[in-house]
Amino acid sequence: MAKRTTFTRVLDENKYEIALSTNNLRVNYGDYEALHGVSLQFERYKITALIGASGSGKSTYLRSLNRMNDTVGSAQVSGQIMYRNLDINSAQVDVYEVRRHIGMVFQRPNPFSKSIRENITFALQRRGLHDSKKLEQIVETTLKQASLWEQVKDDLNKSALALSGGQQQRLCIARALALEPDILLMDEPTSALDPISTANIEQAMQELKQHYTIIIVTHNMQQAARVSDYTAFFHQGKLIEYDQTRRIFTRPQVQLTEDYVSGHFG
Ligand SMILES: Nc1ncnc2c1ncn2[C@@H]1O[C@H](COP(=O)(O)OP(=O)(O)OP(=O)(O)O)[C@@H](O)[C@H]1O
Ligand SMILES: [Mg+2]
Repeated sequence: MAKRTTFTRVLDENKYEIALSTNNLRVNYGDYEALHGVSLQFERYKITALIGASGSGKSTYLRSLNRMNDTVGSAQVSGQIMYRNLDINSAQVDVYEVRRHIGMVFQRPNPFSKSIRENITFALQRRGLHDSKKLEQIVETTLKQASLWEQVKDDLNKSALALSGGQQQRLCIARALALEPDILLMDEPTSALDPISTANIEQAMQELKQHYTIIIVTHNMQQAARVSDYTAFFHQGKLIEYDQTRRIFTRPQVQLTEDYVSGHFG
């Protein structure tokens, strides 16, 4: 039976810097309510993992955080998403601006069919940056941050599609970083990758968190335990428990969490 039914709020707003928070966030697809009011706070420069069985609402929640659900026709998102004292779920807020601050990396690597260099410079040039020295500098810095530089520095004109899946995913991370976000959302970024590529991405994430706040959805509980500082467990569209990762995996407060992390379902 449930030891306790509510989740503990481990972050004290006065003590920690909160990069992003949601307040009673609900998502409907037509008549179907997929997310039933989720309130969570994300601490700056930490990695938070969202875990839960298939269909529990992790991607729905993550996609709401940078207004990607705006692109899903039937999705209706209500509640607040607070970022820098602004409710970015409000209709007046420019979604492109939101996505510049809150970047996203998807499950399948999706580089543009362009050169490695252009994958990074494309959006910047579209935004009016044409200083080639500056652009080269950004290419180098972001590829280093994504732990890809050493492997591609002599081949920047090569097609991104010629890279391995893991390299493509790191390029997508570099591409997201080029827009200088301060939050990075990752939806199962390693699920299509082999163990070595996965380890490379996890390594890159540890370095990235010095400068970015990362929110990652993962099906892989070992991965959540390895990379994240905090873990939020979702079940059937609800946030069941949120806590420091090591507590979620060793001493969860809610029976359902314990059942899930010990592999009893999902
Ligand atoms: N575009 C959509 N239209 C209608 N229903 C959707 C849509 N996207 C998700 N859903 C539904 O919302 C619920 C939550 O789905 P979501 O994709 O957020 O789960 P998830 O936890 O990310 O699952 P998975 O681990 O399989 O990726 C599911 O019941 C799903 O069928
Ligand atoms: Mg998903």
